[in-house]
This record gives sequence, structure tokens and C-alpha cells, in this order.
Amino acid sequence: MACGMKSNENILEQALDLQKQHGWVTPEDVKEIAAAKGIPVSKAYETLSFYSMILLKKPADVRVEVCRGTSCYIAEGTDLLDELRRITGCNVGERSDDGKYQVEYCECLGRCDTAPNIVVNGKLHTAVTKESLSEIL
Ligand code: FES
Repeated sequence: MACGMKSNENILEQALDLQKQHGWVTPEDVKEIAAAKGIPVSKAYETLSFYSMILLKKPADVRVEVCRGTSCYIAEGTDLLDELRRITGCNVGERSDDGKYQVEYCECLGRCDTAPNIVVNGKLHTAVTKESLSEIL
């Protein structure tokens, strides 16, 4: 019997490699992964959708990840999220109508001492304030 966990690790590695190349995992990439693993495309989607770091949709121009770890959550307060919403037009979990902004939560970034922290297009920003947010974006 094949080990499901090992199989998922292989799928994840291949998906991350393809994501590095294309910026996201395209439908063609998913078909390639499914073919390589000998599984249905639907099963590949099901497996990949489990991992939050895998982007199965083309990311917006500006992808904002808001840390929802305890330290950042407490430090953020509602002002920062309100300002983020005002600038981007998005609540967390949404994408702006023009496709420019995408706002998501992420898990603890390991920099709790500088909370609140956000990541914009892969770059960490620490001790973010309502004022610095507009400069960052
Ligand atoms: S809680 Fe945000 S970096 Fe740890």
C-alpha cells in the first residue's frame, strides 16, 4: 500500500517548483502534476487546495497577507484592517474588482516581537501602522 503522506509531499514539491516558475499553479500545471502522479486532475486539485501556500488562482498585482497569529491579531486592532480595507477596497479573503489587490490572512510569521506584521508580494513588513500601511501599498 502506498503511503498517502509521502505521495502528498511529492505533489507539494512539484507544485511549489511550478509555482516558482509561473507565480502560481496554472490549470496546465495541475494537469502535468496529475499526469506525473498518475492520478485524476480532480484529485490533484483536491490535494493542492489543502495547502494554503499553493496558489491555484493567478495572484493579484499586490498580494497582502495579514498575520493572524495571536501577537499580530492583538496588535492590529480594527484600525489597521479598516485602513487596509479603505486602501484596497477588500476585506480579508477578497480580491479587488480591478484585480489589483488581494488580501488574505497568513499564519504566524515568526516575528511576533515586531507585531503587527504583514507580507506584501512576499516581502515582510514589520511593526505596521495605519500610517505606514499606505506607504507600503
Ligand atoms: S503572531 Fe504575527 S508574526 Fe507571530
